[in-house]
Amino acid sequence: MLVYPPDLHGAQRTDRAIRILGALSRAVLATDGGGWSAERVRPVDRMRPMRVVDKQALADDVVGLVLEHEDGRVPAGWTPGSHVDLTLPSGLRRQYSLCGTDPDRFQIAVRRVGVASAEIHDRVRVGDLLHAQGPRTAFPFCGEPRVLLVAGGIGITPIVAMARACAARGLNWHLVYAGRTRASMPFLDELDQLAGSRLTVLVDSERDHRPDAADLLSWADEDTAVYCCGPTPMLDLVRGARRSVPAPLHYERFSPPPVVNGREFTLTLARTGRTLHVPADRSALDVVLDTVPDAPHSCRQGFCGTCRVTVCDGRIERRARAQGPGRTDMLLCTDRVDGESIVVDL
Ligand code: FES
Repeated sequence: MLVYPPDLHGAQRTDRAIRILGALSRAVLATDGGGWSAERVRPVDRMRPMRVVDKQALADDVVGLVLEHEDGRVPAGWTPGSHVDLTLPSGLRRQYSLCGTDPDRFQIAVRRVGVASAEIHDRVRVGDLLHAQGPRTAFPFCGEPRVLLVAGGIGITPIVAMARACAARGLNWHLVYAGRTRASMPFLDELDQLAGSRLTVLVDSERDHRPDAADLLSWADEDTAVYCCGPTPMLDLVRGARRSVPAPLHYERFSPPPVVNGREFTLTLARTGRTLHVPADRSALDVVLDTVPDAPHSCRQGFCGTCRVTVCDGRIERRARAQGPGRTDMLLCTDRVDGESIVVDL
């Protein structure tokens, strides 16, 4: 029985609307088993079934896939710099930048560099059903008035979409595209046509040295926003050279960052009792993959959460971008250990 406070005159009466609302809410609570329970909140499945509708060689060791939603629904719009999490028939999950021109389909380009990319190259066929989550954007294009795009190798995949956006918006832009050989560089013909004199191509096989910071950044002045995607040495060069420049530097890695200021520790896998030694310069994920090759992982940079494991014993030194304080789990790809050992549920 609800007790209401007296009205302004001290009478123990309640407002009529409040009495009706009170009666209604009591009726709902009575017929609904007492309210919310955790079991009643159903998780939302954000995995999209996507059919492979096209597969083509884009360059040496690079294939392009075009994916369409299985039931014909249009995927949520994506923007330059967006990526999707793709789950392959084997269950492996990887992230790929979206690089197509059709807003209603996902197009990705994949260089053969590991187990997942080999599966895409060798086993995925037109007509196969894959599953995708996203798109998500960790490398957004902001469209500043003066833009330098820098791409190394397959790092061209988010950059090619940005180049199209620069051209469509009439920005003052330039693209530096570096690779080993011309034959290994996807989108080269399209970019040549799109960019003309705005394109600088740096090909290792045609030069006597790898690109240095001056090669990559000579077009950028103090007001130029720089977008860079490529291998770690390229990113390190660009980041070092732009450290004291006020204009924005946006970058995305497609390989894991090096471990900085790491300390060695031991990692025990609770399900098997196996104890692994993690050296100061390797990630826990790399060490785990040596013995558990199918351990779930994707971005290897601490933002997708795929490698998350529950900590059974020990304290974490948090380094991951995806985690807030107070969590009892560890991202194997980036987190370290506060102490000498840790036990995880794996
Ligand atoms: S693999 Fe993505 S967070 Fe570790």
